[in-house]
Amino acid sequence: MQDHWVAVLLSSDLKAKPQKIFWKGIPIVVFRSGQNVNAIADRCPHRMAEFSKGRVVQGEIECPYHGWRFDGAGQCTSIPGHLGETPRYRIQSYKAIEQDGAIFISAGTPDTLPYVHGFPTLKAVVRRVHSTTHSTVVDVAENILDATHTHFTHKRLLRGLGTKRHRVSVEVTGAAGRVEACYTGEPKQEGLVSKLLEGGRSKTVGRFLYPGIAELEYWGPDGIVLTTSFHLYQSTDEIVNGIGWLVGPKTGLSSWLKAALFKPLFRIALEQDRRVLKLAQENAQVHGRPDIIKGPLDFLRGDIEAIMKGERPDAADNPRHYQIEL
Ligand code: FES
Ligand SMILES: [Fe+2]
Repeated sequence: MQDHWVAVLLSSDLKAKPQKIFWKGIPIVVFRSGQNVNAIADRCPHRMAEFSKGRVVQGEIECPYHGWRFDGAGQCTSIPGHLGETPRYRIQSYKAIEQDGAIFISAGTPDTLPYVHGFPTLKAVVRRVHSTTHSTVVDVAENILDATHTHFTHKRLLRGLGTKRHRVSVEVTGAAGRVEACYTGEPKQEGLVSKLLEGGRSKTVGRFLYPGIAELEYWGPDGIVLTTSFHLYQSTDEIVNGIGWLVGPKTGLSSWLKAALFKPLFRIALEQDRRVLKLAQENAQVHGRPDIIKGPLDFLRGDIEAIMKGERPDAADNPRHYQIEL
Protein backbone atom coordinates (compact mmCIF):
# COMPACT_ATOMS: atom_id res chain seq x y z
CA MET A 1 0.00 0.00 0.00
CA GLN A 2 3.05 2.25 0.49
CA ASP A 3 2.46 5.13 -1.91
CA HIS A 4 -0.56 3.51 -3.50
CA TRP A 5 -4.20 3.72 -2.71
CA VAL A 6 -5.99 0.48 -1.95
CA ALA A 7 -9.78 0.17 -2.25
CA VAL A 8 -10.96 -1.47 0.95
CA LEU A 9 -14.71 -0.87 1.29
CA LEU A 10 -17.70 0.26 -0.70
CA SER A 11 -18.97 3.65 0.51
CA SER A 12 -22.38 2.06 0.99
CA ASP A 13 -20.89 -0.41 3.52
CA LEU A 14 -19.48 2.32 5.75
CA LYS A 15 -22.25 4.02 7.70
CA ALA A 16 -22.20 5.33 11.28
CA LYS A 17 -20.70 2.12 12.61
CA PRO A 18 -16.92 1.72 12.37
CA GLN A 19 -15.72 -1.12 10.10
CA LYS A 20 -12.81 -3.46 10.61
CA ILE A 21 -10.72 -4.43 7.62
CA PHE A 22 -7.51 -6.42 7.27
CA TRP A 23 -4.70 -5.29 5.03
CA LYS A 24 -1.95 -7.93 4.71
CA GLY A 25 -3.10 -9.30 8.04
CA ILE A 26 -3.05 -5.92 9.82
CA PRO A 27 -6.38 -5.02 11.46
CA ILE A 28 -7.44 -1.45 10.63
CA VAL A 29 -10.60 0.36 11.72
CA VAL A 30 -12.27 2.64 9.18
CA PHE A 31 -14.78 5.25 10.31
CA ARG A 32 -16.45 8.43 9.17
CA SER A 33 -16.23 11.89 10.65
CA GLY A 34 -18.43 14.37 8.82
CA GLN A 35 -17.30 14.49 5.21
CA ASN A 36 -14.05 12.67 5.95
CA VAL A 37 -13.15 9.02 6.25
CA ASN A 38 -10.46 7.85 8.64
CA ALA A 39 -8.38 4.72 9.08
CA ILE A 40 -6.29 3.89 12.15
CA ALA A 41 -4.82 0.69 13.61
CA ASP A 42 -7.62 -1.34 15.17
CA ARG A 43 -6.01 -1.64 18.59
CA CYS A 44 -6.41 0.69 21.49
CA PRO A 45 -2.89 1.34 22.84
CA HIS A 46 -4.27 1.29 26.40
CA ARG A 47 -5.21 -2.41 26.77
CA MET A 48 -5.48 -3.49 23.14
CA ALA A 49 -9.26 -3.55 22.87
CA GLU A 50 -10.60 -3.33 19.31
CA PHE A 51 -11.74 0.15 18.32
CA SER A 52 -13.99 -1.44 15.71
CA LYS A 53 -16.14 -2.85 18.53
CA GLY A 54 -16.63 0.69 19.82
CA ARG A 55 -18.57 3.57 18.36
CA VAL A 56 -17.98 6.86 16.65
CA VAL A 57 -18.69 9.94 18.78
CA GLN A 58 -18.40 13.38 17.22
CA GLY A 59 -16.19 12.03 14.47
CA GLU A 60 -13.82 10.26 16.84
CA ILE A 61 -13.58 6.60 17.71
CA GLU A 62 -14.41 5.63 21.28
CA CYS A 63 -12.75 2.52 22.67
CA PRO A 64 -15.37 0.14 24.09
CA TYR A 65 -13.24 -0.77 27.15
CA HIS A 66 -12.48 2.47 29.06
CA GLY A 67 -13.82 4.96 26.59
CA TRP A 68 -10.59 6.62 25.47
CA ARG A 69 -11.17 8.53 22.28
CA PHE A 70 -8.93 8.85 19.24
CA ASP A 71 -9.24 11.10 16.21
CA GLY A 72 -8.62 10.24 12.55
CA ALA A 73 -4.93 11.13 12.92
CA GLY A 74 -4.62 8.44 15.61
CA GLN A 75 -4.24 11.02 18.39
CA CYS A 76 -5.79 10.33 21.82
CA THR A 77 -8.20 13.19 22.51
CA SER A 78 -9.80 12.26 25.81
CA ILE A 79 -9.59 9.86 28.76
CA PRO A 80 -12.89 9.75 30.64
CA GLY A 81 -12.46 10.55 34.35
CA HIS A 82 -9.01 12.05 33.97
CA LEU A 83 -8.76 15.67 35.10
CA GLY A 84 -6.31 17.94 33.39
CA GLU A 85 -4.49 17.76 30.13
CA THR A 86 -4.82 14.65 27.96
CA PRO A 87 -1.46 12.90 27.58
CA ARG A 88 -0.14 12.83 24.01
CA TYR A 89 -0.77 9.18 23.14
CA ARG A 90 -0.86 8.18 19.53
CA ILE A 91 -1.63 5.16 17.39
CA GLN A 92 -0.73 4.44 13.73
CA SER A 93 -3.01 6.14 11.24
CA TYR A 94 -3.45 5.69 7.48
CA LYS A 95 -4.43 8.09 4.76
CA ALA A 96 -8.05 7.54 3.74
CA ILE A 97 -10.18 9.00 0.98
CA GLU A 98 -13.61 8.35 -0.50
CA GLN A 99 -13.90 8.28 -4.27
CA ASP A 100 -16.23 6.82 -6.88
CA GLY A 101 -18.30 5.03 -4.28
CA ALA A 102 -15.42 3.37 -2.43
CA ILE A 103 -13.06 4.01 0.47
CA PHE A 104 -9.36 3.91 -0.37
CA ILE A 105 -6.56 3.84 2.19
CA SER A 106 -2.79 4.17 1.97
CA ALA A 107 0.10 3.60 4.38
CA GLY A 108 2.22 6.04 2.37
CA THR A 109 1.67 9.53 1.04
CA PRO A 110 0.33 9.16 -2.51
CA ASP A 111 0.50 12.42 -4.42
CA THR A 112 -2.38 11.62 -6.76
CA LEU A 113 -6.02 10.66 -6.29
CA PRO A 114 -6.82 6.94 -6.53
CA TYR A 115 -7.03 5.40 -10.00
CA VAL A 116 -10.45 3.75 -10.26
CA HIS A 117 -11.16 2.53 -13.81
CA GLY A 118 -10.16 3.40 -17.33
CA PHE A 119 -13.60 4.28 -18.63
CA PRO A 120 -14.29 7.92 -19.51
CA THR A 121 -16.42 8.89 -16.52
CA LEU A 122 -18.93 11.08 -18.31
CA LYS A 123 -22.12 9.37 -19.41
CA ALA A 124 -21.36 6.07 -17.79
CA VAL A 125 -23.53 3.61 -15.97
CA VAL A 126 -21.58 2.38 -12.94
CA ARG A 127 -22.28 -0.58 -10.69
CA ARG A 128 -20.05 -1.63 -7.83
CA VAL A 129 -19.46 -4.94 -6.12
CA HIS A 130 -17.47 -6.11 -3.13
CA SER A 131 -16.29 -9.68 -2.74
CA THR A 132 -13.80 -11.72 -0.79
CA THR A 133 -12.14 -14.88 -2.08
CA HIS A 134 -10.05 -17.59 -0.42
CA SER A 135 -7.03 -17.17 -2.66
CA THR A 136 -4.06 -14.97 -3.50
CA VAL A 137 -4.01 -11.71 -5.48
CA VAL A 138 -2.04 -13.39 -8.28
CA ASP A 139 -4.53 -16.26 -8.56
CA VAL A 140 -7.60 -14.01 -8.47
CA ALA A 141 -6.14 -11.54 -10.98
CA GLU A 142 -5.17 -14.36 -13.30
CA ASN A 143 -8.64 -15.86 -12.97
CA ILE A 144 -10.31 -12.57 -13.90
CA LEU A 145 -8.06 -12.11 -16.93
CA ASP A 146 -8.02 -15.74 -18.07
CA ALA A 147 -10.31 -16.38 -21.02
CA THR A 148 -9.69 -20.13 -21.13
CA HIS A 149 -11.61 -21.04 -17.96
CA THR A 150 -14.87 -19.47 -19.14
CA HIS A 151 -15.77 -22.52 -21.27
CA PHE A 152 -15.79 -24.68 -18.16
CA THR A 153 -16.27 -22.58 -15.04
CA HIS A 154 -18.89 -20.32 -16.66
CA LYS A 155 -20.45 -22.64 -19.19
CA ARG A 156 -23.85 -21.24 -20.28
CA LEU A 157 -23.35 -17.95 -18.45
CA LEU A 158 -20.50 -16.51 -20.50
CA ARG A 159 -20.34 -19.22 -23.13
CA GLY A 160 -23.00 -21.05 -25.08
CA LEU A 161 -23.69 -24.75 -24.79
CA GLY A 162 -21.81 -25.45 -27.95
CA THR A 163 -18.20 -26.48 -27.85
CA LYS A 164 -17.19 -24.60 -30.96
CA ARG A 165 -14.03 -22.59 -30.58
CA HIS A 166 -12.72 -19.79 -32.75
CA ARG A 167 -9.24 -18.82 -33.81
CA VAL A 168 -8.16 -15.59 -32.08
CA SER A 169 -4.98 -13.53 -31.94
CA VAL A 170 -3.52 -12.46 -28.64
CA GLU A 171 -1.03 -9.62 -28.27
CA VAL A 172 0.65 -9.35 -24.89
CA THR A 173 2.33 -6.03 -24.14
CA GLY A 174 3.50 -4.32 -20.98
CA ALA A 175 5.31 -1.52 -19.22
CA ALA A 176 6.54 -0.95 -15.68
CA GLY A 177 3.74 -2.06 -13.35
CA ARG A 178 1.49 -3.10 -16.20
CA VAL A 179 0.75 -6.01 -18.52
CA GLU A 180 -2.13 -6.51 -20.93
CA ALA A 181 -3.45 -9.05 -23.39
CA CYS A 182 -5.49 -7.92 -26.37
CA TYR A 183 -7.71 -10.54 -28.04
CA THR A 184 -8.94 -9.96 -31.58
CA GLY A 185 -10.88 -12.09 -34.02
CA GLU A 186 -13.22 -13.37 -31.33
CA PRO A 187 -16.85 -13.52 -32.44
CA LYS A 188 -19.56 -12.50 -30.01
CA GLN A 189 -19.72 -14.97 -27.14
CA GLU A 190 -22.86 -17.04 -26.92
CA GLY A 191 -23.54 -17.07 -23.19
CA LEU A 192 -26.33 -15.19 -21.44
CA VAL A 193 -24.22 -12.23 -20.38
CA SER A 194 -22.95 -11.59 -23.88
CA LYS A 195 -26.43 -11.90 -25.35
CA LEU A 196 -27.63 -9.24 -22.99
CA LEU A 197 -24.83 -6.84 -23.27
CA GLU A 198 -23.15 -6.77 -26.56
CA GLY A 199 -23.44 -5.95 -30.15
CA GLY A 200 -20.49 -7.11 -32.26
CA ARG A 201 -17.23 -7.67 -30.46
CA SER A 202 -14.13 -6.14 -32.01
CA LYS A 203 -11.62 -6.84 -29.27
CA THR A 204 -11.24 -7.77 -25.64
CA VAL A 205 -8.47 -6.42 -23.44
CA GLY A 206 -7.38 -7.93 -20.13
CA ARG A 207 -5.01 -5.82 -18.09
CA PHE A 208 -3.19 -6.05 -14.77
CA LEU A 209 -1.88 -2.97 -12.99
CA TYR A 210 0.28 -2.70 -9.89
CA PRO A 211 -0.53 -3.12 -7.01
CA GLY A 212 -3.51 -5.39 -7.81
CA ILE A 213 -5.97 -4.04 -10.37
CA ALA A 214 -7.41 -6.50 -12.91
CA GLU A 215 -9.39 -4.90 -15.73
CA LEU A 216 -11.37 -6.27 -18.64
CA GLU A 217 -12.50 -4.14 -21.56
CA TYR A 218 -14.99 -5.31 -24.17
CA TRP A 219 -14.80 -3.27 -27.35
CA GLY A 220 -17.46 -3.11 -30.03
CA PRO A 221 -17.13 -1.45 -33.44
CA ASP A 222 -18.05 1.92 -31.89
CA GLY A 223 -15.83 1.85 -28.83
CA ILE A 224 -15.89 0.37 -25.34
CA VAL A 225 -19.07 -1.54 -24.57
CA LEU A 226 -18.25 -2.57 -21.05
CA THR A 227 -15.36 -2.50 -18.60
CA THR A 228 -14.83 -4.18 -15.29
CA SER A 229 -12.09 -2.97 -12.99
CA PHE A 230 -11.32 -5.11 -9.95
CA HIS A 231 -9.11 -3.73 -7.19
CA LEU A 232 -7.58 -6.60 -5.25
CA TYR A 233 -5.41 -6.83 -2.17
CA GLN A 234 -4.31 -9.55 0.20
CA SER A 235 -6.48 -9.05 3.26
CA THR A 236 -5.08 -11.99 5.22
CA ASP A 237 -2.88 -14.91 4.14
CA GLU A 238 -5.99 -16.74 2.97
CA ILE A 239 -8.33 -13.99 1.82
CA VAL A 240 -8.27 -11.60 -1.12
CA ASN A 241 -10.50 -8.55 -0.89
CA GLY A 242 -11.90 -7.16 -4.14
CA ILE A 243 -13.83 -4.01 -4.95
CA GLY A 244 -15.09 -3.99 -8.52
CA TRP A 245 -16.51 -1.33 -10.82
CA LEU A 246 -18.68 -2.39 -13.76
CA VAL A 247 -18.89 0.47 -16.18
CA GLY A 248 -20.69 0.87 -19.48
CA PRO A 249 -21.69 3.80 -21.67
CA LYS A 250 -24.99 5.42 -20.86
CA THR A 251 -27.01 5.12 -24.03
CA GLY A 252 -30.63 5.72 -23.17
CA LEU A 253 -33.00 3.65 -21.11
CA SER A 254 -31.75 0.30 -22.34
CA SER A 255 -28.35 0.88 -20.73
CA TRP A 256 -29.99 1.13 -17.31
CA LEU A 257 -31.97 -2.00 -18.00
CA LYS A 258 -28.82 -3.79 -19.07
CA ALA A 259 -27.01 -2.59 -15.97
CA ALA A 260 -29.85 -3.78 -13.76
CA LEU A 261 -29.72 -7.23 -15.34
CA PHE A 262 -26.00 -7.36 -15.59
CA LYS A 263 -25.11 -7.07 -11.93
CA PRO A 264 -26.95 -10.21 -10.76
CA LEU A 265 -25.51 -12.20 -13.67
CA PHE A 266 -22.09 -10.86 -12.87
CA ARG A 267 -22.62 -11.96 -9.26
CA ILE A 268 -23.26 -15.51 -10.45
CA ALA A 269 -20.02 -15.53 -12.44
CA LEU A 270 -18.21 -14.14 -9.39
CA GLU A 271 -19.66 -16.90 -7.23
CA GLN A 272 -18.50 -19.55 -9.71
CA ASP A 273 -14.99 -18.10 -9.65
CA ARG A 274 -14.90 -17.78 -5.86
CA ARG A 275 -15.88 -21.40 -5.57
CA VAL A 276 -13.32 -22.77 -8.01
CA LEU A 277 -10.54 -20.64 -6.47
CA LYS A 278 -11.40 -21.65 -2.92
CA LEU A 279 -11.54 -25.36 -3.76
CA ALA A 280 -8.26 -25.12 -5.68
CA GLN A 281 -6.60 -23.34 -2.77
CA GLU A 282 -7.84 -25.94 -0.30
CA ASN A 283 -6.72 -28.75 -2.56
CA ALA A 284 -3.27 -27.19 -2.93
CA GLN A 285 -3.08 -27.04 0.88
CA VAL A 286 -4.03 -30.71 1.25
CA HIS A 287 -1.26 -31.63 -1.19
CA GLY A 288 1.36 -29.51 0.54
CA ARG A 289 1.36 -26.73 -2.07
CA PRO A 290 3.31 -28.48 -4.83
CA ASP A 291 4.63 -26.49 -7.80
CA ILE A 292 2.02 -25.64 -10.41
CA ILE A 293 2.38 -25.77 -14.19
CA LYS A 294 2.52 -22.63 -16.24
CA GLY A 295 0.68 -23.85 -19.33
CA PRO A 296 0.99 -22.60 -22.91
CA LEU A 297 -2.16 -20.46 -22.58
CA ASP A 298 -1.20 -18.86 -19.26
CA PHE A 299 -0.06 -15.69 -21.03
CA LEU A 300 -0.10 -13.35 -18.08
CA ARG A 301 0.86 -15.42 -15.04
CA GLY A 302 4.61 -14.73 -15.10
CA ASP A 303 4.13 -11.02 -15.72
CA ILE A 304 1.53 -10.67 -12.96
CA GLU A 305 3.89 -12.44 -10.56
CA ALA A 306 6.75 -10.12 -11.55
CA ILE A 307 4.61 -6.99 -11.17
CA MET A 308 3.44 -8.11 -7.73
CA LYS A 309 7.10 -8.52 -6.72
CA GLY A 310 7.75 -4.96 -7.90
CA GLU A 311 9.74 -6.20 -10.92
CA ARG A 312 9.47 -5.12 -14.53
CA PRO A 313 7.28 -7.59 -16.44
CA ASP A 314 8.93 -9.46 -19.30
CA ALA A 315 6.20 -8.27 -21.71
CA ALA A 316 7.47 -4.69 -21.28
CA ASP A 317 10.62 -5.56 -23.23
CA ASN A 318 9.43 -8.63 -25.14
CA PRO A 319 5.90 -8.18 -26.47
CA ARG A 320 4.45 -11.54 -27.43
CA HIS A 321 2.00 -12.78 -30.01
CA TYR A 322 -0.09 -15.96 -29.84
CA GLN A 323 -2.75 -17.69 -31.93
CA ILE A 324 -5.19 -19.77 -29.92
CA GLU A 325 -8.61 -21.33 -30.17
CA LEU A 326 -11.03 -19.73 -27.79
S1 FES B 1 -8.43 -0.51 26.27
FE1 FES B 1 -9.11 1.16 25.20
S2 FES B 1 -9.59 2.59 26.68
FE2 FES B 1 -8.74 0.96 27.79
FE1 LIG C 1 -14.26 -16.33 -14.20
